[in-house]
Amino acid sequence: MSTFLSVFVTVISLGTIFGCLALLIWCSRDKMGMEEGAPTGHTYDGIAELNNPLPKWWTYLFIFMVVFALIYLALYPGLGNFKGLLGWQSSNQNVRSLEEYHAASADAREQGKLVQYEREMVKADEVFGAKFRELTYEADGTTYRAIADIALDENATKVGQRLFLQNCAQCHGSDARGARGFPNLTDADWLYGGTPEQIKTTLLHGRKGAMPAWGASLGEDGVREVTSYVLSLSGRKVDAVEAQKGQARFAMCAACHGMDGKGNQAMGAPNLTDGIWLYGGSRAAVEDSVRNGRGGVMPAWKDILGEDKVHLLASYVYSLNNSK
Ligand code: HEC
Ligand code: HEC
Repeated sequence: MSTFLSVFVTVISLGTIFGCLALLIWCSRDKMGMEEGAPTGHTYDGIAELNNPLPKWWTYLFIFMVVFALIYLALYPGLGNFKGLLGWQSSNQNVRSLEEYHAASADAREQGKLVQYEREMVKADEVFGAKFRELTYEADGTTYRAIADIALDENATKVGQRLFLQNCAQCHGSDARGARGFPNLTDADWLYGGTPEQIKTTLLHGRKGAMPAWGASLGEDGVREVTSYVLSLSGRKVDAVEAQKGQARFAMCAACHGMDGKGNQAMGAPNLTDGIWLYGGSRAAVEDSVRNGRGGVMPAWKDILGEDKVHLLASYVYSLNNSK
């Protein structure tokens, strides 16, 4: 907040409080030169106004509220840039990255001054952490249950689904069927592999697709030809001559997508032969992929959610493709 705004807010807040107090004192002192209870001469619809003082209970309540407001404003942030004597914060403010967040939070922990948000998180962890451990660990409490087993446990996948709705649905959709650029997680078609370990690795560390842009090296003709070849791989009708020329150029794509175009999960290079398109299968969309490249980013969740929740989420994702 700028200094001007800070002073502005402070003056208005304190001015209002003290102004009201002054009004109250003035009203309780001024008897208008009349006896208490004497008619003031004002009548409204036959109701006469008498010169009575403000009710005592009301006056005390008002004074109490003024005192409360002043104590509150002294203890908590509210007056412009003044942080309050208690140093209370709703969250770690001005934090711009996960690293800064962890640093700020470790700092606060050391000083025994957790912000409100973190106190709530710690409390939630105490209540629910045990539940997550119960669902994800073997009875001995030290080794994880197999992801494929948890995936058959309806109770666990229900909790996994909640976690998914909170953390993943904004990108992958609440039904996990994805959207343009965000893979469908229910179709058993995997960029990075669908084994329990591969899914868990994807969630823990994130993924970054890296399809180079070919527009400059292929030229417009080259882009069109190679696109025709790519479309022909999934049985689409294309100009045969163009596709043949494109096939000759596909050698430079094969390093990642494989000679047969079936993709490579080690690099997250999609299978181009199955008619499933991450970025759309229209000629224009495929040309766009080839010309300008693509770089989808799946965030890493290890530091955000912790491994227990990731294990549970991996089971949920696994269950979407491997139900009974
Ligand atoms: C900010 C958007 C975003 C969020 C949030 C997100 N993802 Fe992703 N996810 C992606 C993108 C984009 C990809 C594809 C990366 C690529 O193109 O290489 C991906 C890929 C994946 C894959 C790999 C799919 C495959 O075919 O191999 C899995 C599994 C996955 N996400 C699960 C999750 C789960 C579970 C969560 C919640 C914890 C989550 N994602 C949250 C964007 C997101
Ligand atoms: C360095 C490895 C690499 C090379 C070389 C490469 N690709 Fe890709 N390609 C990828 C990756 C990785 C993706 C997925 C990008 C993402 O997930 O955001 C991709 C995505 C695509 C897509 C989008 C697929 C979809 O489902 O929407 C098309 C089309 C494509 N590549 C065609 C080609 C063609 C044609 C060539 C050769 C001119 C080529 N690629 C060369 C790695 C590569």
